Amino acid sequence: MKHPPAVLANDLVRLRRSTAADARSVFDATSSDAVTHFMEWSRHTDVSETEGFFSGCAARWDSGDEFHWVIEPANERAIAGCIALRVRGSTADFGYFLLPMFWGKGLALAATSLIVGWAKRQPNIFRICATTDTENTRSIATLGRSGLAHEGTLRMATIRPNISTTPRDTAVFGLCRDDF
Ligand SMILES: CC(C)(COP(=O)(O)OP(=O)(O)OC[C@H]1O[C@@H](n2cnc3c(N)ncnc32)[C@H](O)[C@@H]1OP(=O)(O)O)[C@@H](O)C(=O)NCCC(=O)NCCS
Repeated sequence: MKHPPAVLANDLVRLRRSTAADARSVFDATSSDAVTHFMEWSRHTDVSETEGFFSGCAARWDSGDEFHWVIEPANERAIAGCIALRVRGSTADFGYFLLPMFWGKGLALAATSLIVGWAKRQPNIFRICATTDTENTRSIATLGRSGLAHEGTLRMATIRPNISTTPRDTAVFGLCRDDF
């Protein structure tokens, strides 16, 4: 499979392949209650946890396991959040977060549009999808605006450790080649 570009950009955001040096800035997000509430991983309490994740990004990119970018607003030198894409066979899935100070500006939609646009142009990708907690209304709105359809709910499917140890309902969103 062709690797995606290290940089993807539009009027609102620039996605830049992340580097280990980004971890300290991203710790503001990975340690935030608001950002991590619905995540499938526990909130980071020490920057070394974020550094540990980022130290593996280069190898995962090179192997094609996961493509991870930081999201920079087009008009400022700041890291607003992150977005990651995984391709397994003919399916691409993605996930993302933004620091709360960057919510409500259309930056997540701008970032997902770049990822979805790239995936649509790949002849081997037939399905683009994402999942989120059924109560994550902001993410549900972003996925709908990104052109993905709500396909259903996986009941009690995902543990969100920052909320509870009981698995929670997960909404599945997808877009298939027949509808590109
Ligand atoms: C999910 C998340 C990324 C959504 O961020 P967001 O900023 O609400 O997302 P969007 O980019 O879709 O922006 C939509 C908002 O920007 C506004 N907006 C402003 N300018 C805009 C533009 N040019 N284009 C589109 N929307 C624009 C919209 O009106 C909308 O505002 P509203 O929420 O007040 O209705 C963010 O809430 C987040 O990081 N949450 C925590 C992490 C998380 O849950 N990630 C998802 C895991 S599945």
